[in-house]
Order: sequence, then C-alpha cells, then structure tokens
Amino acid sequence: MALIALGVSGGIGAYKAVEIARGLQTRGHDVAAIMTRSARRFVGPVTFEAITRRRVITDQFAAGANSDIEHIQLATDIGLLVVAPATANVIGKFAHGIADDFLSSLYLATRAPVLMAPAMNTNMLEHEAVRANLTTLAARGVRFVDPGDGYLACGWIGKGRLAEPEQVVEAADAILAPPGSLLGRCAVVTAGPTYEDIDAVRYIGNRSSGRMGYALAAEAARRGARVILISGPSMLPPPSNVEVIRVRSASEMQAAVNAHLSSADLLVMAAAVADYTPDQRTDGKIEKSDGPLGLTLVRTPDILADAGRARGSANRPVLIGFAAESGDPVERGRAKLRAKRADMIVANDISRADTGFDSETNAVTILTATGDEAIPLASKSRIAALILDRAEKLLSPVPARSV
Ligand code: CTP
Repeated sequence: MALIALGVSGGIGAYKAVEIARGLQTRGHDVAAIMTRSARRFVGPVTFEAITRRRVITDQFAAGANSDIEHIQLATDIGLLVVAPATANVIGKFAHGIADDFLSSLYLATRAPVLMAPAMNTNMLEHEAVRANLTTLAARGVRFVDPGDGYLACGWIGKGRLAEPEQVVEAADAILAPPGSLLGRCAVVTAGPTYEDIDAVRYIGNRSSGRMGYALAAEAARRGARVILISGPSMLPPPSNVEVIRVRSASEMQAAVNAHLSSADLLVMAAAVADYTPDQRTDGKIEKSDGPLGLTLVRTPDILADAGRARGSANRPVLIGFAAESGDPVERGRAKLRAKRADMIVANDISRADTGFDSETNAVTILTATGDEAIPLASKSRIAALILDRAEKLLSPVPARSV
C-alpha cells in the first residue's frame, strides 16, 4: 500500500475529491491532500484533514520549519501523484514546468507516476492549447482518467465533467497494483443490450444494464489484461484502463468482436445479444394506420457460437458465455456449453429480483467441462472476480519470450 499525494485544483468537481480520498483509503492507501488556492474556494481543507488525518498542504511557504522543502520530502515518499480535478491551469503548468505553488513544484520534484483527472468546460477541453498540453503530458508518461459527459457547472451539457470518483480510484489502484495475473493477456468483453432498429425512431431492445460485463472488464483490467470492452447501449461509465468500442446492434457487435478475435486470449460474451432483428429497417418513421402492423424478425448471428466454430480445435481464445434463464438455468446452461462450443457458461436465474439484468448483485452457477459450481448471491464485482479466477485456469501458459 502506498502513500498517495492527492492534488486538488480549483474546479467544481473538487468536492468529489473528498470521495476519491476516501476510496483510496478504503483500498488501503495513505493519502496526503494538497489543495491549490482556488480549490479552497470550493471545499475547505478541514474536510480533507478529517478524512486523511493529515495536515492538508495549502501553501508552498506556510509558516513552520522546513515547509519550503516539504515538497521535496513528499516527492520522495509518495508512490503516486493523483490530480483530481485537474483544471486547464494545472495541466498547463505541469506541461510547461511552471512551479509557482506546492502542487506544481511537487510534480517537478517527484519521480512517482502521475495520474490526472481533467475537468473543465467542453470548449476549454477541446481548445488546441489544452489538447497540446495533454499530449505533452501523455508523451511524458502521465496517465489520465478521461472526463465524462453530462451537466457541467457552467450549465452546458458535454464532455468535461470530472470522472466518477470510483473510476479515479480504480485507475490509481491499477497503477500501484503489482503485476497482475492477466498481465500480457488480452480480454475481449461484451456488455449491455443490443438495439435492433425497426425504423428511424423505434428499436427492439432488452433490459440488460451492462453491469456484469462492465464489472468483468474492470476486474480483467485490474489483473493487468489489455481489455477491449465492446458495449451495447449502456448508461454506465466505462471502467478505467479499458478500450471501449460502442456498438448498437448484434451485427455491429459481431463485427467488433471478429475484428479483435485474433488478439484475444479470452472472449467473455456478457452482452444480452438480441436473438432476432427486423428483416428490414425502414429509413424514415413508420406511420401508424388503423390496422395491425406486422414485423418479420429474422435470427441474428450467434456471436459466441460463431467464435466457437471459428476457433475449431485451437485452444485460444478461451470462450465464456452467459445463460440468462428463467427455467432450469443449469440444465439449459449445459446445453449451451455444448451447442456453442464454449469453455464456460455462467448461468443465472433472471426470475429472481436480486439477480440478473438490472440488479447490483447476482447468484450464478459456473459450468465448465469438469463440473458445476454454484456461487451464492454476491456483488457483480465479486462474481466477476470469481469468474476470472476460474477462467485463468483455462488459459494456456503465456508463451515464453525468446531473448
Ligand atoms: N449470444 C451471442 N449471440 C447471439 C445471442 C447470444 O453471442 N446472437 C451469447 C450471449 O452473449 C450469451 C450466450 O450467447 O453469452 C447465451 O445467449 P443465448 O443462447 O441467446 O441464450 P439466452 O439469451 O440465455 O436465452 P435463450 O435460451 O432464449 O436463447
């Protein structure tokens, strides 16, 4: 566990940094908060002091012995510098080596990795000057947690909102985590529903939230895998450290999966892929008439089964599917394991309120060629960890690299 310097600069998201400090502590890290002058206009240092149980550094030249060399001491002691929110001003100062306060001096003085969570107005974020500064910092190895879309304090809706505290905490933890059990592996994870368009305004969808797939993607990234998350329409913020490909329909999802299948060590089909799609999509809007409306639905490609066929007798990628059942999940899951030539089917009973589509928790049975294992009700993150523990055993060893 590390000592983390948490730099808070002056944005409306500064209040979220309190939650970030808390999250880092929950994961066992020690946090030293540093607030810029403008950050203190949004939140008081006492809040951070109460949480971190450390003096909050607010001034490079505060009264007291050796305060001027404090940043050098902290620079050596920390395992990570996190800046959240990172304003355009701080980003600019870091990019240009300006050291006019404690935080910017600390950046120059430390050799610890740096993680920044930018937050600002959409136009500022898109401004060439800010883009250039971000590029400079990225080239120097600074890592970023991308800002999200949403309502901004300035009244705009757009990109620029500070990422969710949990995303920042996860990204920080991933930087500090020891090399994971999936290091050197590539996991392709699908998540969420698919939308099959009927016309320009209507579609056939399902109630999948994407939670299980997003939890699996986050867990695989935490374990060091390169993760490609292929997501159908979902409201969830993507986990940090994963590459996100957004798709809408089953056929778009299949195209994205196929494009990455050859690099995948693991394909996890957690998406609730539509089994049927309208045989044709009307370009405009279908106007109503007095009579009934008929729709002809045709089968979508079965992405998992096609991947099973394409893999043939090869042992890569390991294929994991889900079976959402309201009947006998184990019996039906086992049939899917065979029919789709998968290595694992995670069967869950969607008829219970505390499991399945929209819930935070799940209770599943993991089916493999060697047997069934019932996993009682747990959070989807915990279930994701248990699934990946089992999946790791199915991976063939990483080929030794020649020297
Ligand atoms: N799947 C897929 N392509 C489809 C449909 C499903 O890859 N067109 C995948 C899903 O992502 C899941 C698994 O196959 O991993 C099980 O889906 P499916 O066979 O459709 O079963 P259920 O959705 O559980 O329901 P049903 O028995 O009604 O088919």
